[in-house]
Amino acid sequence: MALLEVRNLTKRFGGLLALHDLNFCAQEGEIVGLVGPNGSGKSTLFSVIGGALHPNAGRVIFDGQDITDWPPHKICHAGIARTFQVVQPLLQLSVLTNVMVGACFGQEPALDLNAGRREAKYVLERIGLSEKAGLPARALSLGQLKLLELARALATRPRLLLLDEVGAGLSPGYGVRLRALLRELQDEGITIVGIEHALHAVSKVSDRIVVLYRGQVLLEGEPSVVVEDPRVTEAYLGE
Ligand SMILES: Nc1ncnc2c1ncn2[C@@H]1O[C@H](COP(=O)(O)OP(=O)(O)O)[C@@H](O)[C@H]1O
Ligand SMILES: [Mg+2]
Repeated sequence: MALLEVRNLTKRFGGLLALHDLNFCAQEGEIVGLVGPNGSGKSTLFSVIGGALHPNAGRVIFDGQDITDWPPHKICHAGIARTFQVVQPLLQLSVLTNVMVGACFGQEPALDLNAGRREAKYVLERIGLSEKAGLPARALSLGQLKLLELARALATRPRLLLLDEVGAGLSPGYGVRLRALLRELQDEGITIVGIEHALHAVSKVSDRIVVLYRGQVLLEGEPSVVVEDPRVTEAYLGE
């Protein structure tokens, strides 16, 4: 059984069909790369899975449970954490406190502040942001804010991690480090779906790649095969 299964999902914004009868799944322990040209519906899919948006049709099944109509906090407590492409830091609060929010409120039962602080420090160390822990989030660069998104998501101890362009804007050196971290998380049993606009970045770390185009799956398969498929190039060129 897939850990995550999205069935016949449709999401409209007025006359615009952002997701069109979409089917998608992630197997437990897998790293799935979700790619596609701008506007193909990738972020919308995450918002529907995470409960921030309600679909017009279709279901989201997580670990055998239908979570389609659940509120975001309940979905988070069930083990799904996401990051936002347009970062959502609490700018006035310290980097550490931002991550504590994930640690304390993202788990059920909630961690107390001391346990949350310990967890947040541990996660920041793993991500490589420890030195910034005491700074306000507004002092971070965009690349660092993307990592803060990842840290806050990780602090909720997810089973399924949804990453929306976390790698975009990172230095090449950090890109390599991020890939190593994702592998480590996979070894710990976390299932990861990672959106990237750049196909080549995600093909290095994914077990499988799914290409979205106009709200539907254009094709999916092994990274080496997908990268070579002319339909993918065509979809990107039409951007
Ligand atoms: N909140 C919204 N209101 C109206 N249109 C939206 C909204 N969010 C996304 N869209 C539109 O839905 C389509 C899919 O967007 P999105 O999921 O962000 O694509 P991607 O992440 O693949 O670039 C785009 O045409 C976008 O403009
Ligand atoms: Mg997007």
